[in-house]
Amino acid sequence: MDPKLRRMAASLLSLLLLLEGGMFSSSSSPSGLLEKVFQHLDLHQDEFVQMLKEWVAIESDSVQPVPRLRQELFRMMAVAADTLQRLGATVDSMDMGSQQLPDGQILPIPPVILAELGNDPKKATVCFYGHLDVQPAERGDGWLTDPYALTEVDGKLYGRGATDNKGPVLAWINAVSTFRALYQDLPVNIKFIIEGMEEAGSVGLEELVEKEKNRFFSGVDYIVISDNLWVSRKKPAITYGTRGNSYFTVEVKCRDQDFHSGTFGGILNEPMADLVALLGSLVDSSGHILIPGIYDQVAPLTEEEIHMYKAIDLDLEEYRNSSQVEKFLFDTKEEILMHLWRYPSLSIHGIEGAFDDPGAKTVIPGRVIGKFSIRLVPHMNLSVVEKQVTQHLQDVFSKRNSSNQMAVSMTLGLRPWIANINDNQYLAAKRAIETVFGTEPDMIRDGSTIPIARLFQEIIHKSVVMIPLGAVDDGEHSQNEKINRWNYIEGSKLFAAFFLELAKLHE
Ligand SMILES: *[C@@H]1O[C@H](CO)[C@@H](O)[C@H](O)[C@H]1NC(C)=O
Ligand SMILES: *[C@@H]1O[C@H](CO)[C@@H](O)[C@H](O)[C@H]1NC(C)=O
Ligand SMILES: *[C@@H]1O[C@H](CO)[C@@H](O)[C@H](O)[C@H]1NC(C)=O
Repeated sequence: MDPKLRRMAASLLSLLLLLEGGMFSSSSSPSGLLEKVFQHLDLHQDEFVQMLKEWVAIESDSVQPVPRLRQELFRMMAVAADTLQRLGATVDSMDMGSQQLPDGQILPIPPVILAELGNDPKKATVCFYGHLDVQPAERGDGWLTDPYALTEVDGKLYGRGATDNKGPVLAWINAVSTFRALYQDLPVNIKFIIEGMEEAGSVGLEELVEKEKNRFFSGVDYIVISDNLWVSRKKPAITYGTRGNSYFTVEVKCRDQDFHSGTFGGILNEPMADLVALLGSLVDSSGHILIPGIYDQVAPLTEEEIHMYKAIDLDLEEYRNSSQVEKFLFDTKEEILMHLWRYPSLSIHGIEGAFDDPGAKTVIPGRVIGKFSIRLVPHMNLSVVEKQVTQHLQDVFSKRNSSNQMAVSMTLGLRPWIANINDNQYLAAKRAIETVFGTEPDMIRDGSTIPIARLFQEIIHKSVVMIPLGAVDDGEHSQNEKINRWNYIEGSKLFAAFFLELAKLHE
């Protein structure tokens, strides 16, 4: 045989073997097991949807501070604890005490579930975080169906919490229960941390994680969060970073009371004029932040990143249409995503104390507070940013020779999160996605701040990955929230395949 032909034949043969190993092999091999798992999830999908229906039916709204809804939250956590117990997990419902609201009302905080299944020291241990509370929803808000009665239309399962976050939590449970149903050993040890206050700021969670660091979390190798969305309708994604945020107020004061412009206009340094100049000095019309040094610590763009951005499935026209914006600052998909995810941005939010009612009131506000924030990216440093912003505003203010007083303060500081995409569990997630969906995932970040990932990474010092299951149009937090039946079932398969891939890497 011609050597070239032989090489081709050899590579064809190895390709076939690879395919067989990956998808079509006999039931005795690990991938035969995967085949059975997939079959089980397909055959029983109506039962999995029914379970989601039962969970969605519980009005576990943590946002409205109402005793009846708190009871629903407690019921939700009890149902979840029971489900996990029936899977054979050891379940602790951690008492989180109560909270006092600004109006003096005291409400109990639903327990956080810490559960574990398997503790074989030879296996990897993966901890799944999820939440079972939801945003408020009422039929009258513009829902086409009852938000608490899961309703299927054209393969879309409409209901509050369907995608955020009950569907993904159940997908993980479905994956585990399938191994159980098939009398198969779980390939990994599994832990669950499930809370009921995520939509209300995860009250008490950080303290709990800190307290359990050396107990519940001690053997954990990997942490998985599935609480965001793809950027596509069809193409799955892995999320490896989120932006942080630093929120500033700048106060300019002449006196506490307002003035009349007929009586004082013309003889004052007006606070609003100072403030408008200060706010106007922050960012130019191309979106570039004008604070000296602010870009110094931004991580340089790498070749690898450029390739990742190129591969992402984002329909710009659809994105523009759905956001009802005619023109963005940037014209290409890559530039738009980079400026949402890997570059900082500065937004001006509002002015406290300024006149903002309809009509023509001739007031000179005596004291005004401007509010703006900077979304932070790796490797920006909060305390350095605070110094740069303060210095810049002081310079601009002093050049105005104003007789007013100015005070700058950083009122919120949340650091960005970025993971190492070469960690084992990123590799496992990528392989699992390729097996289930037949495509490489979009490697994405989130432009908003999701404190939970950073919290786990910082306290537990273990690799964190976000594996979203929902499509870009799922409408989390909005009316007619849904998860596609396809995403829910394929997502369950994805988690099952992920367990097996993790186990392979751990061998
Ligand atoms: C965007 O909107 C325009 C005008 O309404 C429409 O013609 C076009 O098909 C839409 N494109 C997408 C991808 O939705
Ligand atoms: C941020 O910068 C300050 C001052 O330069 C330094 O002391 C601190 O260690 C830095 N923090 C981090 C997390 O790098
Ligand atoms: C502020 O005062 C300095 C020194 O008196 C002067 O040179 C400068 O022109 C003044 N700036 C403004 C904006 O009035």
